[in-house]
Amino acid sequence: MINFRKEIAEIISQYVEGMEPAEIEQLVEVPADTSHGDYAFPCFRLAKLLRKAPPLIAAELAEKISGAPLFEKVEAVNAFLNMFISKDFFTRSVLEEAMAAGDSYGRSDEGAGKTVIVEFSSPNIAKPFHIGHIRTTVIGNSLYKLFDFLGYKVVRMNHLGDYGTQFGKIIAAYRRWGNREEVEANPISTLLALYVRFHEEEKNDPALTEEAREAFAALERGEKAEKDLWQWIRDESLKEFKRVYDMMDIDFDDWSGESFYTDKMPAVIEELKEKGLLKESQGAQIVDLEPYGLTPAIITKSDGTSIYLTRDLASAKYRKKTYDFDKSIYVVASQQDLHFKQLFKVLELMGYEWAKDCVHVNFGMVSLPEGTLSTRKGRVVFLEDVLKIAVSKTREIVTEKGVNADLIDETSKVVGIGAVMFNELSSGRIKDYVFDWDEILNFDGETGPYVQYTHARCASVLRNAAEKFGDTVDAKTAENADLSPVLTPAAYELSKLIYAFPAAVKDAADKYEPSIVTRHTVKVAQAFNKFYHDEHILVDDGTERRAKLLLTSAAMQTIKNGLGLLGIKAPERM
Ligand code: ARG
Repeated sequence: MINFRKEIAEIISQYVEGMEPAEIEQLVEVPADTSHGDYAFPCFRLAKLLRKAPPLIAAELAEKISGAPLFEKVEAVNAFLNMFISKDFFTRSVLEEAMAAGDSYGRSDEGAGKTVIVEFSSPNIAKPFHIGHIRTTVIGNSLYKLFDFLGYKVVRMNHLGDYGTQFGKIIAAYRRWGNREEVEANPISTLLALYVRFHEEEKNDPALTEEAREAFAALERGEKAEKDLWQWIRDESLKEFKRVYDMMDIDFDDWSGESFYTDKMPAVIEELKEKGLLKESQGAQIVDLEPYGLTPAIITKSDGTSIYLTRDLASAKYRKKTYDFDKSIYVVASQQDLHFKQLFKVLELMGYEWAKDCVHVNFGMVSLPEGTLSTRKGRVVFLEDVLKIAVSKTREIVTEKGVNADLIDETSKVVGIGAVMFNELSSGRIKDYVFDWDEILNFDGETGPYVQYTHARCASVLRNAAEKFGDTVDAKTAENADLSPVLTPAAYELSKLIYAFPAAVKDAADKYEPSIVTRHTVKVAQAFNKFYHDEHILVDDGTERRAKLLLTSAAMQTIKNGLGLLGIKAPERM
């Protein structure tokens, strides 16, 4: 996209001997008050060089540069050169660039040659994939898209919770009360019921606790019976998870779960010992983090079993060795803030300078109006059910709206699932929020359906123009068109938002905050709708019509690219 400061610096430098354009560019500012122009240049620094008073320099420069096509007008006010960018020039360069780039509009190559790992979703095997997992899944997927768009090589990792003492419990419960057919018919809910029953009956039956402990110990020793059972539970759970990922069009490159690291842990524990970091505390092995204001990192438990943090240490080393990442991102709820502080601190104490490249991208909680969720009590809302409800509720809405019968299936799916995903990415990730159907599916709110609908509206305008007038517009049209019809306030506002899209994409990636793209895309949709309502697009005058179609097309492309970065489809009809 055209860099206005740079262009301005080039122009000014033609009249200032002895100062490089780059130096001038540094001095160009954006006035807080737009009545002082889009850009301003303070002339104080030129006084010595040109041996003139700054106001005089400003006045002379204003006269010299005001003829450049970049400017609508240039004013000298005291020592300042206030520059107003030509709306025609601006709009033309925005439309040309957006049209020429198409699906790549907003892309860059800042990440060329760099690798980013995005670990996200990471649900626990044999436990429900519930609505609490939606945020990591959808935010992580969007971060993957953002970094990919910026030219990074991205590895998507799913650090499945497929290991830990709870598998002893599930195995023990399954052996007592489970049967194969039931699990295979309905893996997660059956396994969940077994887990819940285990916790209830364990209270009055200490033998169960012992059975679970033994089963887990056998699993750790790698005994065949337990390993086979565990593998089967993992496979069945994964089938169910994959069904949900497919609904959201989400995939991973690396599915190594926690279990993958069991045989890599002894080496980590040994290394910690060698580096003098391990301490004994009440039978457990810990790394003391008190000097850093953190509670101790527990490495092994008193019964010798390894734990979550140790597996994460092994995993971090594996990630560095396997992918040689420039950045390793963990998209995990804020409940685990302490865990990640400990993890990164221990890596640093181990002497790994790349510990600084590990980032915990945290987020707040989702709750339902009826209260929060708990696996132990078995009161959960499955993500798959939420998505299905979204589709069926959307079906009702679009049927009522009179959507074409042959589009209803596809529209309900794309809009329903898109609505839930969009909602997750709407507010800053740190905020807790309450899941509210009326808000999510409000076609007039700042929602997925609203944005998708706007995209379809743009597509429909362009289709009608082609059918009725045989008009098609592309980057070439933007180069030569008379753009005066799209320099009105509503149209100009829209162009400015289209122009700002690439910067929003970069900002979102820099801050690990997809909501920046979400909000920007909403703004583009709102600005388009204002333009659409204020001005008639398909007018008889061909010049006026084509200018408006160009803007429509660039807006549509921006919305599509924005939705794409959120992992959401942009329907052409609905
Ligand atoms: N499975 C864990 C959970 O559901 C999340 C894993 C997060 N990732 C990690 N590397 N510790 O709470």
